[in-house]
Amino acid sequence: MTAKLLQTLPPDLDQARLPHHVAVIMDGNGRWAKQKGFPRIIGHRQGVDALKDLLRCCKDWGIGALTAYAFSTENWGRPLEEVDFLMVLFERILRRELTEMCDEGVKITFVGDLESLPLSLQAEIQHSMAATAKNQAIHFTVAINYGSRHEIIKVCRQLAGAVQKGEIKLEQVDESLFQQHLYTAGESDPDFLIRTSGEMRLSNFLLWQIAYTEIYFTPTLWPNFDRQEFHQALLDYQKRDRRFGKA
Ligand code: IPE
Ligand code: IPE
Ligand code: MG
Repeated sequence: MTAKLLQTLPPDLDQARLPHHVAVIMDGNGRWAKQKGFPRIIGHRQGVDALKDLLRCCKDWGIGALTAYAFSTENWGRPLEEVDFLMVLFERILRRELTEMCDEGVKITFVGDLESLPLSLQAEIQHSMAATAKNQAIHFTVAINYGSRHEIIKVCRQLAGAVQKGEIKLEQVDESLFQQHLYTAGESDPDFLIRTSGEMRLSNFLLWQIAYTEIYFTPTLWPNFDRQEFHQALLDYQKRDRRFGKA
């Protein structure tokens, strides 16, 4: 099937059974670059194009929400040069893509410990969120400096603090209240999580939110993840029986 045909939902996919919310662990940029004899950063740059096309594809095919893991709390452990490159890349992409996101009705938000990011990146993040806040075509969430354990501890501290101050009763702490304090509050849990590059792990991503998410692993390296690959992943998703513990 040509890329052109895939501009609309492939006929073998059932519109009514598409995931509402797709999440991606975009892994394999470094290996993609290495295979081609390039430095790792070239892989990150190429990965941006893959993400951009997936976002557009989700919108074209009627998927309401996409969440992408861009930088984990553990990724600070990489060489300074790579971390610096990524921070500058995030900032540049946000600036460059803002007009197009507005034109296409993309609402962008971010999850993660944003306050530890470079100030210029924080400013770009705030600006892009404010400028796209009313858009409704698709909700695009980018996880930057995100770690699920960090997120869960943050919620525990907030709720414990509220109990301590007498603002809420201990008995009021339940799944619903907990959820409302996560970075992802207000967004439904992902229906489908895709991890590229052949690694079969979650790497501290959305551990609370994916309790009943369908998971798909593919050996494809992230920069090579295209509409054909996404089509295959969705065909797999539509074969699954989501029982949620029921018989
Ligand atoms: C994913 O690709 C991007 C980030 C984690 C920022 P990697 O950089 O992890 O690429 P590999 O896994 O080393 O190939
Ligand atoms: C997960 O990929 C984080 C992102 C894709 C941003 P990593 O490459 O950091 O994960 P590990 O180290 O292989 O678990
Ligand atoms: Mg990796």
